[in-house]
Amino acid sequence: MSAGAAQEPILKITGLVKSFGSIRALRGVDFELRRGEIHALAGENGAGKSTLMNIIDGILMPDSGEIRLDGQVVAIKSPAMAQKLGIGLVHQEIALCPDISVAENIFMAATNSSRAPLMDYPALRRKAAEILRQLGDVDPAAMVRSLSISQQQLVEIAKALTLDCRVLILDEPTAALTEREARILFEIMRRLAAQGISIIYISHRMVEIFDNCDRVTVFRDGQYIVTLNVAETTPGAVVSAMVGRVIEDLYPPKQHPQDRSDEVILDVRGLSATSRFSDVSFQVRKGEILGFAGLIGAGRSEIVKGICRLEGEVTGEVRLAGKPLALAHYGDSIAQGLVYLSEDRKGDGLFLEMSIAANVSALRLRQVASAAGIIDDGREAAQAQRLGARLNLKYGAIDQPVAHLSGGNQQKVAIAKMLSVDPRIIFLDEPTRGVDVGSKAEIHRILRDLANRGIGVVVISSELPELIGVCDRVVVVREGRIAGELSGGDMTEDAIIYLASVGQQRRQVA
Ligand SMILES: Nc1ncnc2c1ncn2[C@@H]1O[C@H](COP(=O)(O)OP(=O)(O)OP(=O)(O)O)[C@@H](O)[C@H]1O
Ligand SMILES: [Mg+2]
Repeated sequence: MSAGAAQEPILKITGLVKSFGSIRALRGVDFELRRGEIHALAGENGAGKSTLMNIIDGILMPDSGEIRLDGQVVAIKSPAMAQKLGIGLVHQEIALCPDISVAENIFMAATNSSRAPLMDYPALRRKAAEILRQLGDVDPAAMVRSLSISQQQLVEIAKALTLDCRVLILDEPTAALTEREARILFEIMRRLAAQGISIIYISHRMVEIFDNCDRVTVFRDGQYIVTLNVAETTPGAVVSAMVGRVIEDLYPPKQHPQDRSDEVILDVRGLSATSRFSDVSFQVRKGEILGFAGLIGAGRSEIVKGICRLEGEVTGEVRLAGKPLALAHYGDSIAQGLVYLSEDRKGDGLFLEMSIAANVSALRLRQVASAAGIIDDGREAAQAQRLGARLNLKYGAIDQPVAHLSGGNQQKVAIAKMLSVDPRIIFLDEPTRGVDVGSKAEIHRILRDLANRGIGVVVISSELPELIGVCDRVVVVREGRIAGELSGGDMTEDAIIYLASVGQQRRQVA
């Protein structure tokens, strides 16, 4: 091989254009992937990242532009063809079949794209089991439906890793992973890159990009902006390239000590649910943002869902502004002003086939209905537009289906839906998952604003910097119990992790 050929990028995209009706998702972008590199693709929600990846994977056809793989111009007409060419894509949204086993999901992908005339199933089974074991001990025989979101995400990754690919694309793979799972994934990525596999890595987390990637390309509004060597740039520079301006403060100011109130808005006492959590007591005070920290599986979501009566039987007492609540199901909870933003926006947060407007109004239809109870499309649209503008939602038309929005913009619709009911207590489970840095700061500001207006705000997050940056106080959950609480300067990553894993506060060595 000549030196020139060795230098040739494995993948070279030039002038790629893709529109969806009047939405110009890609306006002639360039992108170049070198052999064995880990190349990050960054950009705000709706910048066109997933659209480009779907084109490379043969799911979407470009309107114009060129894709060269190994120097050859290729027309990638289907995912099966992409896989035969050695391209593997881990989608942003989990797309497994829930009612069959993990192994069957993996085999399905391998069979669809097999280059061999006959599948060697025993070998495939061994390989899949080995990859699953490396990634984090997911049982190949388990039904996908029974897995947590993070385990499902691991299966998606295993699916791609099982297909020997030359180009591996990971579209926000860590959004649903724990820190530990993410670390394992990065080790695997580095090993693959060392073997010469080229990786495109999409993420909104600058730390991940700077710790694991060689180069970073930035898109903005469907346009190519720049490609930088990670070693020669800074997170601030990448963020500025993404948003086209400098973001001053990532987090809004905390509650001022003199504004601190003893007034309890929500008082939870001795809440228990068989085998899920027990004797949970905590309070939300007026004006504060309360965080829920803990390892995945500690029971944070279960507790909050229990309070809102979204899941199973619970015992114990919940008082709202001093008044005991008798809630039988989530409808009662919404009527009282207690709302929950699910961590699983696709599973139980949004109606993907319905419009943005219909999703935003879904919790309280009478708000947008006429006296006769008929939904007023104009009012519904106006409400969605107003909340959408506040969240910097990017969309073509307010009556387009949510399924057509980018991942981060879907998350914003889910948040708009919560805000539409003027809640008294808002529980948010991983609220900024998949949301870009600029919008993330905006969502945090909105949460602070809600707290300032006397609304109880409870945030569950697995991103410790987010909890520490946004919350005034953090309750740490461990194995279904409250392990302790931290506030002010005591809220450090170390202290939270210690409480979450050991279950008691670290004693200071004098
Ligand atoms: N099937 C579709 N129909 C209509 N519009 C679409 C469709 N898919 C994507 N779009 C639009 O194309 C634009 C780019 O979306 P894309 O999903 O590529 O963004 P992204 O960079 O991946 O964002 P995120 O970080 O939120 O995942 C958005 O405005 C989106 O609404
Ligand atoms: Mg995307």
